[in-house]
Amino acid sequence: MNENNKLPGHIAIIMDGNGRWARKRSLNRIRGHIEGVKSVREITEECASKHIKQLTLYAFSRENWSRPRIEVELLMRLLKRYLIKERPTILKNNIRFTVIGRIDGLPKDVQREIEINIEESRHNTGMVLCLALNYGGRTEIVDAAKRLAKEVKDGKLSLEEIDEETFKNYLYTSEMTDPDLLIRTAGEMRVSNFLLWEISYTELWVTPVCWPDFRKKHLEEALSDYAKRERRYGGLIE
Ligand code: FPP
Repeated sequence: MNENNKLPGHIAIIMDGNGRWARKRSLNRIRGHIEGVKSVREITEECASKHIKQLTLYAFSRENWSRPRIEVELLMRLLKRYLIKERPTILKNNIRFTVIGRIDGLPKDVQREIEINIEESRHNTGMVLCLALNYGGRTEIVDAAKRLAKEVKDGKLSLEEIDEETFKNYLYTSEMTDPDLLIRTAGEMRVSNFLLWEISYTELWVTPVCWPDFRKKHLEEALSDYAKRERRYGGLIE
């Protein structure tokens, strides 16, 4: 079990393997995504009850648009249903809902539900639940660079003022701390364009378990492994 003082403040998750989970059972891929929502619910409630400060879930990447149109449509429908259905649970658990990514590229009806969740949970003081939607790490950095360049062009910022601290202020995640722990399900050893800037010193934990099977006990495994890690940030431990 974990020592409480070594719980990660911010957990980010690449929820992978919904398709493989479905294929193994000769089911349609979308059934994998539907089951995946159950894991989202369980892991969110578990993190909130453990007083994790932030949970960031990679729910839809910029690259995911290249999937068959029907899968993208069903994912958007699932997302909308999730946003509506989970609203009372989010509020009941004192969770503050937020998003990162190019939200204006999502269907209008999905954007509306996102806005409602953000607005209604605005004053909550518990865990922050952040969904990465239409998100790409490189896009995030490019978007930040563009906004920064504009400020320089408009004379609001000088070149000398640009350092890592300043740059961070232009990212989607400017108000957030960097993830302490990044969990990836379904075994792939890559970061898939997720939070590229923010995971510089994040501890990685990969499990072969597919996302729809990922439950509390797997989260516990990740947390006890994290508790044993020695974080050095490039320095030395005495
Ligand atoms: C990866 O599985 C998962 C996704 C592309 C999206 C994650 C979406 C969900 C968990 C459901 C919707 C989420 C919310 C928050 C409502 P994959 O399809 O890439 O699996 P595969 O690699 O096995 O094909």
